[in-house]
Amino acid sequence: MNASLFDFDLEDAKARHKALSEQIRKADIAYYNEDAPVMDDGAYDNLRRDLEELETRYPELATKESPTQKVGSAPSKGFKKVKHAIPMLSLSNVFSEEEVSEFLDRVRRFLGMPENEPIELVAEPKIDGLSCSLRYESRNLVLAATRGDGAEGEDITANVKTISCIPQTLPKDAPDLLEVRGEIYMSRAGFAALNKRLEEEGKKTFANPRNAAAGSVRQLDSTITAKRELGFFGYALGELSEAIATTQEGIRRKLAKWGIPETPYKLCKTMTEIIENYEQMLQERPDLDYEIDGIVYKVNDLELQERLGFISRSPRWATAHKFPAEQAITRINAIDIQVGRTGALTPVARLEPITVGGVVVSNATLHNEDEIARKDIRQGDMVVIQRAGDVIPQVVRVLKEKRTGSEKEFTPLEACPECGAHAVREEGGAVRRCTGGMTCPKQAVERLKHFVSRLAFDIDGMGDKIIQSFWDDGLIKNPADIFTLEKRNESFDKPIREREGWGELSEKNLFESINNRRNIALNRFIYALGIRQIGEATAKRLASTYGTIDVLQEAMSFAQDVSSDAYNELLSIDDIGPAAASDLIAFFAEDHNLDVLEQLKTHLTIQPYEQLERTDSPVFGKTVVFTGTLVKMTRAEAKAKAESLGAKVSGTVSQKTDYVIAGEKAGSKLKKASELGVTTLTEDEWLELVL
Ligand code: IVH
Repeated sequence: MNASLFDFDLEDAKARHKALSEQIRKADIAYYNEDAPVMDDGAYDNLRRDLEELETRYPELATKESPTQKVGSAPSKGFKKVKHAIPMLSLSNVFSEEEVSEFLDRVRRFLGMPENEPIELVAEPKIDGLSCSLRYESRNLVLAATRGDGAEGEDITANVKTISCIPQTLPKDAPDLLEVRGEIYMSRAGFAALNKRLEEEGKKTFANPRNAAAGSVRQLDSTITAKRELGFFGYALGELSEAIATTQEGIRRKLAKWGIPETPYKLCKTMTEIIENYEQMLQERPDLDYEIDGIVYKVNDLELQERLGFISRSPRWATAHKFPAEQAITRINAIDIQVGRTGALTPVARLEPITVGGVVVSNATLHNEDEIARKDIRQGDMVVIQRAGDVIPQVVRVLKEKRTGSEKEFTPLEACPECGAHAVREEGGAVRRCTGGMTCPKQAVERLKHFVSRLAFDIDGMGDKIIQSFWDDGLIKNPADIFTLEKRNESFDKPIREREGWGELSEKNLFESINNRRNIALNRFIYALGIRQIGEATAKRLASTYGTIDVLQEAMSFAQDVSSDAYNELLSIDDIGPAAASDLIAFFAEDHNLDVLEQLKTHLTIQPYEQLERTDSPVFGKTVVFTGTLVKMTRAEAKAKAESLGAKVSGTVSQKTDYVIAGEKAGSKLKKASELGVTTLTEDEWLELVL
C-alpha cells in the first residue's frame, strides 16, 4: 500500500478509487472475456488490495459498483498442472492433393507396401477449438486436462464438468480406464449469442469461436463456463486399460455408443474419394454449427497405426489436410526490422489494420530481403495478405496496378538497428544477421525471453515486458541472474516490490515461480539455451542421447575435432546435420556461454533425461546398425522400432556398436562387425529379441 494514501483527502481518495476501479475492470475483461491478461496475477492482486485498503479508510467509496463488491471475479493462482499419461500429440499438415498423395506414399514406403496399394483412411473434420483429454476411471469422469505443451497440461475438470454434452459417467461395458482425447469448441450460434451479450454489456467481444472457447474453458469461476455454449467431439484415445477396437472407425463407434459426441466421418480408399470428400466438406463448411479448418486423415487399421508410430510430436499414421488460408487486401505502411535472439534481422510489414478470418491483423512477416526482392514489396504498396491458423500473417503478392509512384523500395540495412554492429549476410544463406553477438542488447533480451518461455523454463509471471524492464534497469543481464534476483533484491536501489506495478505479493509470487523452476528437465534446459537451430524436438533428442548436461558438454568439446567419434555420434542424431552440429559445437566453445552455464549449474538441479520409451526393453541404451536388405520390414520401420525401444541407431560400425543386424546381401559392415567382434544378428533373431 502506498504510504501517501493516508495523506489523501476525500476528493483525492475518490479520484484514486476511480482510477484503480477502472484498471481492475479493464484487467477483468481482458482476463475473463478475452483470455488475454494485460497484467500478471501479482500486479492484479496489488491493485485489488490497494482498492480494499482505500475502502477500509473511506467506507463510503465501497458502493455496489465497486469491483470489491463483485463476487467470483478475483483470479486465483490459476490451474493445477497435470502430466499426461501418454503425450498429447499434434498433426502434420498438408495443403494440396499432391501432398496428400505424398503422405500416402510415405505410409506405404514405411510399411513396405507396394506402390498404389489402397490404404483405408478415416477422413474426419478438423475442429477449430482446443484439445482436451478426458480421463474416466471406473467409468467416472475424474480428470479433464488441456494439452499444454503435450507432456503437461492444466487441470480444467471443474469447468469441463459444466459442458453438458460430455458424459460424467460411462456405461458398464466401457473399460476401467479410458482416456478420450478430443476438441472443445463453441458453436457458431453460441458464439454469436455470447458476443451479442458482451456487446450489450459494453464488454469487449471475442474475435472468433476458438478464442471464445479457450477463454471460457480457462475461467477460474466455473459458473461462468457453465453459461457458455460449449461442445465436445472425441477423436482419439490416450491411456487405456484394454483395447476397445481394432480400427479407428471402431473407436469412433464405441465412443459414440458410450455417449461421447462424434463428428460425421467418411471412409476413403482412393485419391478420388479423398478429394471428393474434401471438396464436399469445403462446401458444407459454412453451414456447419462448428468451425473446421481442414480434414484429418487417419489410417484406419490400428495395427498399422501401431507399426507406423510417431515422428517427433505427430503420428506418422495421420495428417491434416488444411483448407486454404483466408486472404484480404491492405496497405503496407512501413517496413521495420526485428532483431531476434540469434541476431537474425527479419523485415516486418506494418499494415493498415484489417480483419482476416475474424482476426485483426496489423503486422506480416516478410521473411528476408530475398523474399522482398522476389515479390517486389515496397513501403506504401497495396498487398494481398493471408493468415492460416496460428501462423504469422504473410504477404502473398503486391497489387502493382494500384501503385501511385510514391512507394519506397526497401534497402537492406548495413548495421543492426538496435546496436549498430555490422549487419552481414551469411554466405550461402538468405538471412542477414547482427554481428553484435553478446554485445547486442536486443539479442540479449530476446534470449532472456526465450529462456523463460513456455517450452523452456516456463517461469510464470515473467513476461516480455518484465524481462525488458529488468534488463533496462540492469537487474538481469544473463539467464543466471534470474536465479540470484531474490538474493540481490535488497541491495537494489529500489527492491522489486517498490517498482511501478509491483507490490509485496507480486514480488513474493515472482520469487516463488522462479524457485519452482530450479529443478528442470534436461531437454527443457537445452532448449532454453536458445542455441541456433536447436528447437524443442532436437533438444529432446540431444537430451536422450547424452543423458546429462555434463556428458553433453564434454561430447561437444570432443566434437570440435570433426574426425572424432564424438562428432560422428552427433551427426548420427536425427535432425542434426553439419550446420546444426557446428552451431552446437560453437555454442559450447564460447567462453561467455560456458561461464553462464557454470553459474546456472550452481543454481539449478538439471534432471537427467527421463526416457519416455520402455527402459526395460532388451535393446535399451544399445547402439545398433542395420545393414543389407531387410525382408520383413523397411529400414525406416526397423529404425523407428529400435528407437522406440530406447536403442540408438547408427550408420557406422565401431567398437561402440552392440548389435549389427545383417539382412540379405550384407557387405562391408558385416565384415567390419566380425573383425571388431561385434555381435551380429539375422533379421529373424533381431525380431525375436524385440517383439
Ligand atoms: S487427432 C494423435 N483429429 O488438431 C492424434 N486432432 O493440429 C492427434 N484436432 O492437437 C490429434 N480435430 O487439437 C485429431 N479430428 C481430429 C481433430 C484434431 C481437431 C486438433 C487437435 C490437435 C490439432 C493438431
